[in-house]
Amino acid sequence: MNGAYNFVAFTILWICGRSSAVEHNLAKVRVDGSIPFARSIFSQYIHSYYPATNIHIMYATLNNFCYNQPMKLVIAITGASGVQLAKTFVAHLPSCIETHIVVSDNALTVESFENQKVTLHSSDNIAASISSGSFQVDATAIIPCSMNTLAKIACGISDNLPTRVAAVALKEQKKLLLAPRELPFSAIALENMHKLSALGVIIAPPVMGYYAAHDSLEAMERFIIGKWYDLLGIRHELYRRWK
Ligand SMILES: Cc1cc2nc3c(=O)[nH]c(=O)nc-3n(C[C@H](O)[C@H](O)[C@H](O)COP(=O)(O)O)c2cc1C
Repeated sequence: MNGAYNFVAFTILWICGRSSAVEHNLAKVRVDGSIPFARSIFSQYIHSYYPATNIHIMYATLNNFCYNQPMKLVIAITGASGVQLAKTFVAHLPSCIETHIVVSDNALTVESFENQKVTLHSSDNIAASISSGSFQVDATAIIPCSMNTLAKIACGISDNLPTRVAAVALKEQKKLLLAPRELPFSAIALENMHKLSALGVIIAPPVMGYYAAHDSLEAMERFIIGKWYDLLGIRHELYRRWK
């Protein structure tokens, strides 16, 4: 009897999950090979419809912040060295995040994202969806952030899509993370960072950490990316936490 009840309950859930998914435009979302499509849809809605199941707990770990609606994330890539970090950052993103990418003309890496389920925007397309506050992006990250783009953002200049998405994040008071890459930083760059930090912008340059005893460059990169995920509220297991 219990089995029959469960079967009916899950069938209803599956149908509800599918229609809600369409409503929230989830059809575009990439699903990891290890998670069958129907299960990933369940993860979005099981919380609302059937909170007492074990499956809820299981998906709470897998797709933690996609219960109601997928996070909209913008990644802007500018012409500083460290573009590889942005590629790895995108590669490790959980499948439920709606990811938009814009690459500045000085960071020519567009082909690197060809095989990934992301929306690519042209740097000069000021009319792109993500250039409007009404698109309701949840978080924006500029990885790496050149000193040029940093300076423009600090002055309120938005003459291309990367600087415009940053300006939108600022005016909408949404999360904005900048990963400035330069060595050393000039007093002007430090002043710009200080100004933006005081406005709530997260200034998080790719700084290495040695306490986790990484044994390769890849592990070190995963550590840095994991720190960025932490700051953006993205669950991950990219590095071992200090205990
Ligand atoms: C090989 C190379 C490496 C560069 N690395 C950096 C860097 O690490 N940080 C930086 O601020 N600018 C760097 N630049 C300079 C920027 O690419 C330049 O300031 C450019 O105008 C940035 O444009 P954007 O902010 O629109 O991407 C580099 C340029 C080249 C050619």
